[in-house]
Amino acid sequence: MLRGIYPGSFDPVTLGHMDIIKRGSHLVDELIVGVLCNNAKMPLFSVEERVKMLEEVTSDLPNVRIMPFDGLLVDFVKEMDAQVVIRGLRAITDFEYELQMAQTNYKLAPEVEYIFLPTNLQYSYLSSSMVKEVAAFGGDISQFVSEAVIDRIKERYREIKR
Ligand code: COA
Repeated sequence: MLRGIYPGSFDPVTLGHMDIIKRGSHLVDELIVGVLCNNAKMPLFSVEERVKMLEEVTSDLPNVRIMPFDGLLVDFVKEMDAQVVIRGLRAITDFEYELQMAQTNYKLAPEVEYIFLPTNLQYSYLSSSMVKEVAAFGGDISQFVSEAVIDRIKERYREIKR
């Protein structure tokens, strides 16, 4: 059984991430989306909220599971008994960062392999920070995230402004 991990912060999950999740899920028997408890990035959503949103938007993908993780990615990969890490590449800048990360991880766990998927051109500019910035100023984010996520972001900014 080939098990893959797609790790990230997903604060929040965007249509760009969804594109990678869908395509990645066709390459492995099971795809685990690993949600990093990354407090250094000052997330808008708690890890539990990010996991919940991901569960909602992937509910139609039977071989996708969502799990939070902390610590080193390679330790999470081993814990989940996975063999490959899947990451999306949006631009050349992503490539440099991803290569550095993969090579460091190869040193830590040479048995773990990496698959890089070019992001769909439609989403090559997209990032979670951009989505949050547009939403914070009341802009339309319907082209960037799914319906369920739009409601959560709007609600979160309403809470912040209260
Ligand atoms: N579509 C849209 N946006 C995308 C995207 C895609 N396909 N792929 C990445 N992005 C965006 C994300 O939205 C995020 O945007 P933001 O910075 O505005 O929030 C940004 O690109 C970064 O991507 P993300 O995958 O969320 O997180 P990251 O690159 O900071 O972290 C981990 C990646 C989780 C793999 C890495 O931090 C990790 O492994 N951490 C654990 C510790 C460890 O093992 N470190 C490695 C030692 S080298």
